Amino acid sequence: MKIDIIGAGALGLLFGGKLAASGVPVRFWTRTPEQAAKLNKEGIRVTEADGSTTVVGRQRLEAFPVGKSGREGETAEWMLLTIKQWHIDAGLLSFLSQMAETETKVVCFQNGIGHLELIGKALPGVPLYTAITTEGAKRMDECSVKRAGQGTTQIGANGDGANLESNAESFVKILEKAGFTALLSKDIGREIYRKLLINAVINPLTAIWRLNNGQLLENDERVRLLRQLCDEGLRIYEAYGIPYDDDMFDQIAAVCRSTASNVSSMLKDVQQGMPTEIDHINGKLVEMARRKGIPVPGHEMVWRLVRAL
Ligand code: PAF
Repeated sequence: MKIDIIGAGALGLLFGGKLAASGVPVRFWTRTPEQAAKLNKEGIRVTEADGSTTVVGRQRLEAFPVGKSGREGETAEWMLLTIKQWHIDAGLLSFLSQMAETETKVVCFQNGIGHLELIGKALPGVPLYTAITTEGAKRMDECSVKRAGQGTTQIGANGDGANLESNAESFVKILEKAGFTALLSKDIGREIYRKLLINAVINPLTAIWRLNNGQLLENDERVRLLRQLCDEGLRIYEAYGIPYDDDMFDQIAAVCRSTASNVSSMLKDVQQGMPTEIDHINGKLVEMARRKGIPVPGHEMVWRLVRAL
């Protein structure tokens, strides 16, 4: 079995590094040829939250730059897409369509929504899975990553069929063997929308105010805005019949507390001068709200503020 990791940012290095350390042959596909060359020379260093470090020697992995050349050697059984939403463009989709065979199982790690439709269209007949993870990681350099703590990763099939579910279950076991806490989700659609709302409330406010997740709860003014974004989001879900939990706001506050010292992915992108995922998070909610004529002034505003950043 081979696993392709498309994107060697923090999550790609974390998942790919630990999978390779557990004995799975891993092949990385990087954005730059320089990173691929470095990984092939130095391997990967994964530092856990307690400071213990695993070095994955270069003989346990291969790395190539994402390019037009397509497949290198054997087709992978699993392909993990650990790229950001904004990397998913026509070039990347054409690369993926050269790489994936119908027996390849593709796991999408993206925040937000919209990507599954694009990938599904580009890879007809290829089974798609979603990973919703609370793993946090910081890329220290092109070959090193530091894990923020022990998160949980839910895996679910995007579609029906006994085969899809048993495959998702076998991927959960692969992740567990590599040292992740993983579980099978039988309703990944619901999880996607739960995570979408968590990201739509936390991420733009941390990016605009330059705060860690925990600081969002530090005063009433901030909490009022968190609540507004949450309530507007739930009105959209209500209008579309998207199921949600009654304690959604408490769940969002709990994420702020459990990831208190985290720099959210959106704030990280802003600090690094990279594009953000705002269009696929708040932008998608605004799109849905406009279609139904639901006013969502909070989401309209944070969407525009973060785009302007
Ligand atoms: O995008 C992120 O940073 C994370 O999904 C979350 C849950 C907001 C924690 O930082």
